[in-house]
Amino acid sequence: MTLCLAATDQNITQAARLLAAGELVAFGTETVYGLGADATNARAVAAIFEAKGRPQFNPLICHYASAEAAFADVEANDAARKLAAEFWPGPLTLVLPRRADCRVALLAGAGLETLAVRVPAHPLAASLLREVDLPVAAPSANRSGQISPTTAAHVLAGLQGRIAAVLDCGPCRVGVESTVLDLSTGTPVLLRPGGAALEALEAVIGPVQRGVPIEQTAAGRALRSPGMLVSHYAPALPVRLRAEILAADEALLAFGPPLPDAKLVFQLSASKNLAEAAARLFEGLHWLDAQAPGLGLRRIAAMSVPESGLGLAINDRLDRAAAPRDL
Ligand code: TXA
Ligand code: MG
Repeated sequence: MTLCLAATDQNITQAARLLAAGELVAFGTETVYGLGADATNARAVAAIFEAKGRPQFNPLICHYASAEAAFADVEANDAARKLAAEFWPGPLTLVLPRRADCRVALLAGAGLETLAVRVPAHPLAASLLREVDLPVAAPSANRSGQISPTTAAHVLAGLQGRIAAVLDCGPCRVGVESTVLDLSTGTPVLLRPGGAALEALEAVIGPVQRGVPIEQTAAGRALRSPGMLVSHYAPALPVRLRAEILAADEALLAFGPPLPDAKLVFQLSASKNLAEAAARLFEGLHWLDAQAPGLGLRRIAAMSVPESGLGLAINDRLDRAAAPRDL
């Protein structure tokens, strides 16, 4: 059962507690309703993809109560500070490099070295974010492939029974998603037009290059093919899929009981739980990459993960990691 919480102080506190406990809570922003989870909790982030039925791990926007809180997780530059002063709280999302001590789970950014951050203007969203005091990852609160919800009733129509609660924040004022601006390179690039007008951004930081959403670009393909883009984390070691026996030079990415004779094992989920495995996937690739060379291991062998539920997204990501490298 999904709770529909009226916007009272008590219910905001309850919503914050649910988020802090790793539950999914949808909440209204000025743009559209977001499906929120504690961004520092990879398991909670995995549950977002599961509830949405997303076949891939798209990078998510992290929501904060203040610019100061956001800039604790990403490296702000001049343009970012100027835009934050002018447009936050508001319908503008900035893509910036993750800080070395960024608290956000790698899965929330789909393994990218950049992170999309925003400070929403809706007063109830702001209260919730202040109270929970954690970065909250939130894509639009719809099932994958459906349109973004602008009322609590829309959210329930798609996600009833799949999430812990929706905080009813009334109809969304802006009604379209936030403008997404990439400030992670020297040139500002508009990745998605949205609630903050391009002309207004240009009045503050000068010319902005028109881009296309990451899903439709070389960067987006690189997301699905991690060897292709320098800014994307790619396992340095080659990956072999659906391993049933291990070679002597292979480290093991295990799913369930590990294959025998492994010298180095990262367990995605001992109990074969797909949400747990998704939550640990990027961490596992990083860890094996770092540890394997010291043991003389030169490849990663990944055990089979079923092609159902989050398994589709896990296999998609592993397939890409295993694909021959073009670069
Ligand atoms: O208004 C909004 O932005 C809403 C509310 C809930 O805040 N959220 C939203 O999230 O629309 P979502 O997941 O539906 O869209 C996020 C967009 C996607 O186009 C995604 O590719 C892009 O932001 N994005 C996220 N992280 C990125 C990154 N590191 N680099 C490039 N694009 C990124
Ligand atoms: Mg969306």
